[in-house]
Amino acid sequence: MLVNVVGLGYIGLPTALMIANSGIKVVGTDKDSKKIDILNKNEITFVEKGISEILASAVERGICFTTEYVTADIYIVAVPTPFNKKSKKVVADYLIAAVKSVLSVCQKDSIIVVESTISPGTIDRYIRPMLEVKNEKLGYNIELAHAPERIIPGKMIEELCNNNRVIGADRRETAEKIRELYGKFCRGEIVLTNIRTAEMSKVVENTYRDVNIAYANELVKICNEADINVYELIKIANMHPRVNILSPGPGVGGHCISVDPWFLVGDYPGLANIILAARKINDSMPEYVLEKISEIMEKNEILDVSRVGLYGLSYKENVDDIRESPTLQLIECMKKHLAKGIKVFDPYIKKKIVDNQYDDFDKFLSEIDLLVIMVGHSHIITSLEKISNKLILDTKNVINNTSAYKL
Ligand SMILES: NC(=O)c1ccc[n+]([C@@H]2O[C@H](COP(=O)([O-])OP(=O)(O)OC[C@H]3O[C@@H](n4cnc5c(N)ncnc54)[C@H](O)[C@@H]3O)[C@@H](O)[C@H]2O)c1
Repeated sequence: MLVNVVGLGYIGLPTALMIANSGIKVVGTDKDSKKIDILNKNEITFVEKGISEILASAVERGICFTTEYVTADIYIVAVPTPFNKKSKKVVADYLIAAVKSVLSVCQKDSIIVVESTISPGTIDRYIRPMLEVKNEKLGYNIELAHAPERIIPGKMIEELCNNNRVIGADRRETAEKIRELYGKFCRGEIVLTNIRTAEMSKVVENTYRDVNIAYANELVKICNEADINVYELIKIANMHPRVNILSPGPGVGGHCISVDPWFLVGDYPGLANIILAARKINDSMPEYVLEKISEIMEKNEILDVSRVGLYGLSYKENVDDIRESPTLQLIECMKKHLAKGIKVFDPYIKKKIVDNQYDDFDKFLSEIDLLVIMVGHSHIITSLEKISNKLILDTKNVINNTSAYKL
């Protein structure tokens, strides 16, 4: 059996490597030739715990990387699915293009598995008609399945092995075949359902997370008005056996939680009311941090914003993924207010992304008075001595310094 994984990003690459390491022949395809060149030098394309090791062993087992689409038995498509900022609906263009390329090479009985997160009905609307044309014209029997991915950056390999999964397909036999494939490396339970339910399951899971984070973020705003320490409050509330309030933070980033709920808002505008409210609350947090920064500056007579440093550019701790990151949103917000000069440091981001970005932590610290912790990288928790003489705004509540400002 040959599996062709199409789209070798944060999801496609580790998936391809896990399948190859389970002994199945794998070709990884990406349209980005630079990425393919890097992978063909046996180098990794993003930071993730354990990925170098599984890349090395997959290469030993014969995995190939190419910009070409190949004839295979099973295709796994893991390309981006952003949302349209205006309509809020899923942008299926990358998926449509990838499936079109697959259809140009695939054989009679192949199965195309969509791994990308998509809004419910996307396969019926865009992908199924493409297959039907090919099947009817050539007498082919190409089948579809949807296997959304739940892994979290930072723990991808562990979660690929242990998470439960869902697989949606039109026919039980197809779903069973795909379950057998994922079962080669996944020890979690793999449940089978239809395609629409599988599409919806991924979207509602991320929406659930977004709504819960929004509740904590709304609470921090209310508690600040009410003069109550939100962290103490949440600790007390969580002693209730059926309550589990999350922690407030500087916003929600990444390509999942801050994106997927919009699909439901876009498709069901009159119905997705809590979901829309949650999105708005979470999107308001970078601006809320900005208000906190200016309050602290005023209180401590810091007159120049260039004496303020943002720690963390990625959207979550211990990864280098900056997509939709709250820090980038905060910087955008500052630009709107014509405030320039804020300094930025992230130990995981070596490439220059924004103005005044430092690659030397000590130099960064030496040039600021107020340190704003936007991401709780382990690095900051092990650098407490270095930051002990700074004013600190800890938006993630990761350091145990009683004099630090919190959200
Ligand atoms: N990153 C996550 O944490 C995560 C978690 C779960 C699900 N997802 C979902 O998985 C999907 C992929 O996300 P990602 O984070 O891996 O994206 P990514 O941007 O890291 O990777 C996508 C890759 O697809 C390639 N690509 C795009 N169009 C192509 C085409 N026509 N042919 C071949 N390659 C093509 C791009 O060059 C890129 O390398 C998305 O739907 C996302 O929502 C992501």
